[in-house]
Amino acid sequence: MSTITLDRYADVREAYRQHDLEQALYDAGGVVMADCLLVLHGSAHRTRRRVENRLFRRGTFRHWEHTFLREVVTDTLAPFVAAGHADLLELGYRTVMNLTAMVAGVDHSTTDVTETDALYRFAKKFSEGATLVHTTRDPAEVRAEVAAALDEFDRIFLTPSIARREALLDRLAAGEVPEDDLPRDVLTALLRHRDDLGLDRDMLRREVAFYLQAGSHSTADAFSHAVDDWFAWRARDPEAAEEARHDPALLQACVYETLRLHPASPVARRRALAAISLRGGTDIPEGSEVVLDIAAANRDPEVFDRPAEYDPARDVPSDVPRWGHAFGGGMHACIGTELAGGVPAAGSAEGAQVLGTVTLMLDALLAAGARPDPAAPPRRDPHSARDHFASYPVVFGDEA
Ligand code: HEM
Repeated sequence: MSTITLDRYADVREAYRQHDLEQALYDAGGVVMADCLLVLHGSAHRTRRRVENRLFRRGTFRHWEHTFLREVVTDTLAPFVAAGHADLLELGYRTVMNLTAMVAGVDHSTTDVTETDALYRFAKKFSEGATLVHTTRDPAEVRAEVAAALDEFDRIFLTPSIARREALLDRLAAGEVPEDDLPRDVLTALLRHRDDLGLDRDMLRREVAFYLQAGSHSTADAFSHAVDDWFAWRARDPEAAEEARHDPALLQACVYETLRLHPASPVARRRALAAISLRGGTDIPEGSEVVLDIAAANRDPEVFDRPAEYDPARDVPSDVPRWGHAFGGGMHACIGTELAGGVPAAGSAEGAQVLGTVTLMLDALLAAGARPDPAAPPRRDPHSARDHFASYPVVFGDEA
């Protein structure tokens, strides 16, 4: 079987939109990914996505941002600021775990750190299962650990979350509660449409587990890189970096520039169900594997001037998002784009802006006076070929 790698921006965009290219990155990760939205194809994907999309309608996240998102971010940050130090990975996961659990429909206490940390532990294990294709460990061992984690997660979190929602749905059917009393989350939507979607209990739990890891890992990764890029920028050009810190639209552009340069998923992988010819001249034979090299395409010099340079104020063509392909495209385009990345604020009316969780997190961290810990440099993840930090210590307050 041949493998074709696409690394030009335009080729990747066209490939994302091909209906005859199906998901292939998670073939080894079936223990947690089988039948998940991200691996479904054609009408099965369309039907599931339509049900889940309703939660992610425009306006939902603007409402969230204007009502409670900022508080989630500042409340999670507060104990770290009081202690005088934080690790960006721990802080990032703590912040986004509560949000992704809420989106997924996993009931938990937002004030009990042990529950958040348990969810974090599960999300990390599910993520290891999803990316089994990249593991350097014995795959059977990882699979067994992920299966055990799914059982434990089910017992502690999922079973009670399902029971509460089923009771509410029964009461809705009996006319005892209004529609508005139902939680707006993926689990509730799936339970309501369980029969039309042909979902069994295992599929339900994998979909919820998938959401938990898909939303948290990528957002926490984007946050640590956004902070790292901004620190480096401040060292090079303190005036420009400080100006961005006080301008939400510019700070958001900083996050987009980070997403372009360090996409959380540096490659996507697809399988050709039919022969395809791309406009740029690449022929993809039926049955071949196609690697969409997002990291390379996001630095395509035909689209991004001085592509390797971090320049939040750069000009980009009007049909190209500032984050390039970091949120994917086509049928599997990230459903959480607006929650994580907001809507480009430049040009939006004041008050109509949706900055997104990563910008809110960056803003809160910088406002609290974070700087790299001079005694403990950041460490890259030694178990991943990907561009992830394993640890990023920061301290708060003035330099001595
Ligand atoms: C900075 C943060 C994020 C980044 C960079 C990111 C990136 C991506 C990418 C690249 C894909 C497409 C993968 C492919 O085509 O193979 C994707 C899909 C997806 N993402 Fe995200 N994501 C982020 C945050 C989130 C959040 C917060 C959620 C939910 C709470 C989420 C839920 C999903 C789901 C459900 C899909 C599958 C969509 C489908 O298959 O139709 N993501 N994401």
